[in-house]
Amino acid sequence: MSARKIIIDTDPGQDDAVAILLALAAPEEIEVLGITAVAGNVPLHLTERNARIVCELAGRHDMRVFAGCDAPLKRKLVTAEHVHGKTGLEGPVLPDPTMPLQDLHAVQFIIDTLRAEPEGSVTLCPLGPLTNIATALTEAPDIAPRVAEIVLMGGAYFEVGNITPTAEFNIYVDPEAAEIVFKSGISITAMPLDVTHKALVTAPRNDAFRALGTPVGSAVAQMTDFFERFDKEKYGSAGAPLHDPCVTAYLIRPDLFSGRHINVEIETRSDLTLGMTVADWWRVSGRPANATFMGDLDAEGFFTLLTERLARL
Ligand code: BDR
Ligand code: CA
Repeated sequence: MSARKIIIDTDPGQDDAVAILLALAAPEEIEVLGITAVAGNVPLHLTERNARIVCELAGRHDMRVFAGCDAPLKRKLVTAEHVHGKTGLEGPVLPDPTMPLQDLHAVQFIIDTLRAEPEGSVTLCPLGPLTNIATALTEAPDIAPRVAEIVLMGGAYFEVGNITPTAEFNIYVDPEAAEIVFKSGISITAMPLDVTHKALVTAPRNDAFRALGTPVGSAVAQMTDFFERFDKEKYGSAGAPLHDPCVTAYLIRPDLFSGRHINVEIETRSDLTLGMTVADWWRVSGRPANATFMGDLDAEGFFTLLTERLARL
């Protein structure tokens, strides 16, 4: 089988960084056509920079990185320095990027690529707020039927929320964008907190990254060392949840994940529950299914895959 063509839309973020590294470490399964940055964990000038730093860490100075939207569709940007640190990529000391940022706007790159590639051959992989994707779908509605699938990190049902009591960060930051994506009619696979909170970097798992003895292995170990303090304090969990790598791991080993094809609506009006993913897990609403909402993960299989692939970089 030929490699699946993807565009990674991202707001790095340590877990975004690991997701990108995993994709770049799997050329047999994944062909990354480009990386589009969006404002999210930190402002856009840092997310596009972090994306280039990560590409260079992987030795992929040739990868094209595009900067996209610097603010949500209708709201003020909410960031997450309290989790990811001031730069978004705190932990390892990594050199300033030397590879250029592409001139083209990320939204235009997404539109052009979907129009140029054969219909149904490009998968979109959003790892941050859905602003770039929603803007592309609004500016160029003809691209929707050309998308093979959207595999995204976002939302929660059983875990409810992380940035508010009822909302997950990526959806909360730009709920109007999320609503456009979930109503687009495109086939969607969502990795909510219900799954990503099971992808915990325990001490032995982080030791395995460090033991790779490579710049990538050490950087990933240092990133998760930094990133874990927040979740350990908040949830009392055993380590950092690798949210976004669930997306790229799914492209390589979908059998590691299980979920339900259900209706998912986005709350855009309530102050109290803004950004909630109202996931009809129990199929009580009668509303048509629009997403495969994952619920479980083979965590051991996930970390074995991740460590084995990162070793290749
Ligand atoms: C999501 O929010 C960000 O902080 C992470 O990078 C991930 O994409 C988890 O809620
Ligand atoms: Ca992210």
